[in-house]
Amino acid sequence: MILNTQLEYKGDLFPATIKAYKKDVDVLHFSTTNNVILQLTVLRDSVLRFRYTTVGKFENDFSYAIDENASRGYNHLEISDDDEKYIVTTSKLICFIYKSDLRKSIFDAIDKSLICEDEKGFHWEESYELGGDIVKMSKAAQNGESYFGLGDKPNHLNLKGKRFENWATDSYAYGKDTDPIYKAIPFYTALHDNKSYGIFFDNTFKTYFDFCHERRNVTSFWAQGGEMNYYFIYGPKMLDVVSNYTDLTGTPELPPLWALGYHQCKWSYYPESNVKEVTSKFRELNIPCDAIYLDIDYMEGFRCFTWNKDYFPDPKRMVKELADDGFKTVVIIDPGIKIDMDYDIFREGLEKDYFCKRADGPYMKGKVWPGECYFPDFTRPEVRKWWAGLFKELIEDIGVKGVWNDMNEPAVMDVPGKTFPNDVRHDYDGNPCSHRKAHNIYGMQMARATYHGLKKFNYPKRPFVITRSAYSGTQRYTSTWMGDNLASWEHLQIANIQAQRLAMSGFSFAGSDIGGFAEQPNGELFARWIQLGVFHPFCRTHSSGDHGDQEPWAFDDDITNIVRKFIEIRYQLLPYLYTAFHQYSQDNVPMLKSLVLFDQDDSQTHYRIDEFICGNQLLICPVNEPNAKGRRMYIPKGEWFNFWTNELVSGGKETWVDADLDSMPIFVKAGAIIPKYPIQQYVGEKTIDELTLDVYYKHGKEDSELYEDANDGFDYKKGRYSLRKFNLTGNDNKLVIRIHKRGKFFTSYNTFKLNLIGLPFKVKSIKIDNEYIDLKDVKFNGENSLVVSKEVTNIQIKG
Ligand code: GLC
Repeated sequence: MILNTQLEYKGDLFPATIKAYKKDVDVLHFSTTNNVILQLTVLRDSVLRFRYTTVGKFENDFSYAIDENASRGYNHLEISDDDEKYIVTTSKLICFIYKSDLRKSIFDAIDKSLICEDEKGFHWEESYELGGDIVKMSKAAQNGESYFGLGDKPNHLNLKGKRFENWATDSYAYGKDTDPIYKAIPFYTALHDNKSYGIFFDNTFKTYFDFCHERRNVTSFWAQGGEMNYYFIYGPKMLDVVSNYTDLTGTPELPPLWALGYHQCKWSYYPESNVKEVTSKFRELNIPCDAIYLDIDYMEGFRCFTWNKDYFPDPKRMVKELADDGFKTVVIIDPGIKIDMDYDIFREGLEKDYFCKRADGPYMKGKVWPGECYFPDFTRPEVRKWWAGLFKELIEDIGVKGVWNDMNEPAVMDVPGKTFPNDVRHDYDGNPCSHRKAHNIYGMQMARATYHGLKKFNYPKRPFVITRSAYSGTQRYTSTWMGDNLASWEHLQIANIQAQRLAMSGFSFAGSDIGGFAEQPNGELFARWIQLGVFHPFCRTHSSGDHGDQEPWAFDDDITNIVRKFIEIRYQLLPYLYTAFHQYSQDNVPMLKSLVLFDQDDSQTHYRIDEFICGNQLLICPVNEPNAKGRRMYIPKGEWFNFWTNELVSGGKETWVDADLDSMPIFVKAGAIIPKYPIQQYVGEKTIDELTLDVYYKHGKEDSELYEDANDGFDYKKGRYSLRKFNLTGNDNKLVIRIHKRGKFFTSYNTFKLNLIGLPFKVKSIKIDNEYIDLKDVKFNGENSLVVSKEVTNIQIKG
């Protein structure tokens, strides 16, 4: 018998009338007669945080996602009210909070248009089983609204009409539409009437998002526990929404440049002779490669931080020899620690009480590669410190350059749910909780501890970490990949969508297992996948290894040549990619831009999935089908040069583009200045003594950038970088390039070689910093190139 009559109603509960309002600088409190409080924080003119409690008191305010250093501050804040509502006004937004039911409507402060409004708004259900609330929010979907983001979902880029769950899950050989998979990134952007906003639901419990799936006109999100706590981020440019979200959840640091090179991986290269065979073959065939990976078999019985001495008798020597040949060694480290009293790390973890426990005290025991394991509670600061310290030998002594964190959802084998049971306890940085709350951030906290270990022991070099699982904010510590995909044409398309989606979810440094992890690609699929992969920020071939080889030479000579050609293009584009990374790490600009991010005003872009912009000026479109001689694609508005033929095309339309197997559709934005290195077999192989700038003519203006520094280390943070801004202006018979330089870094080269592409006139004169130069020095008609000092500030080319 239920005695408490309030509990008899098992259904949605709603806030009642507002009875009190209080303002504390930028934090506003609205309390209702039934104990609900809405706390509204004005973080910026365009960023509002909404937090609700149903019990008249808030929990400790703690988040793993939010970066303490995120900028905060607004230009304008005004609060007023009338009979019906409170009105909060900033310079960008107006927010109404209705007195009768706490619902909200948000408007653009400038043109007063409606951006986002609550449907039912905040409501909740009491969780009879576990206590607390199932917290819910529903919004009225606007006419023609589209939705993007949400991390690694292997689904159509536009999320409209679908429902998703966020619960990090080991998903071997997942398929299109499998949900959830490895990551939980509860952030989406919405777009209607050419205006975009984003919602970041910072709740680490299992969360759900429904984009007009259950009800055509309603978008909702809810969580199995915790608080309704979300950030509303206004654009109106989607790019600004994404960069504000990235700033809020943490800007990544620059990786070492080699991490943008090509990486080769397999489960597993062993023994040492096999590793050497692979690395030597790269050099022999002149296929650039910077990193070689050791998967679980390098360890002694899969015990983390050990080596199998039969396979790798002298790891330090091997790592050094690989380094001498330009290879950085990256090793895998999983969270499961083998239960073995003869294993020092296990003993230490046990003695210091660092392993996760079940609700009633026993250890959380689970089977992973080494057999039965215990698992460190990475949500405890002292455990993270211990874990970071464990990398001393690997990094400082042996010379390993990168660490690969896997199985950190956390994955457990042979159990329902493939993870810890819900009752497992976690410290959650002094906010003790069950696994329901800590599950989605477990992998993130492991990667964080690993990152700190590398940062410490690799200093003064930069750390490189890669993780499989992630929550919002993980981009601060590590790169990522999409987990165990499959060698299929469908998965090639999925990889493209996931990389774009992660980039618009604040996590640009991502890539897929090129060629597919499970099963075996044929040469054609592998070549098409490499073509896409070289334009992803993280570029690694990986495979499960039990279906054949997946090195660039594993198919036939034609394929090897195509693979080499595209990896070489990536190495030439390294300064371009590095500049894009700088823009990401400096201004939170995503390194890949889906067409909707690039031009949201063009409604043609809202449902495009294959085409994307790499950096700011390269338009890429992979070929996703076998036997293709090309494909149809959408060229966004503006003028573009075909990368291969230099032919000029006007965008705003779909068109057929030729692309035999040794080619793919690549276009360069008119006016772009693309910096290029010579081909190297690995980063730093050559001293760069001249930098090539491919200058694409434009009738009009276009800005480009070139960021350079020592390619490693942290001196760039003290101003030792060089940032050049190029302003290009062209008309019928003139092309002018103005160059401004900032920063104290001196590049190794002294000259730029400019390749002038697409000039519509015959050159009659060239003036450099106000001096005419002899046209004999310029090789026109043929190469159309011009060598200038890197210090020039003004180049005028006249016809
Ligand atoms: C997991 C990883 C995969 C790795 C394998 C063995 O399946 O996702 O990348 O190779 O474990 O460590």
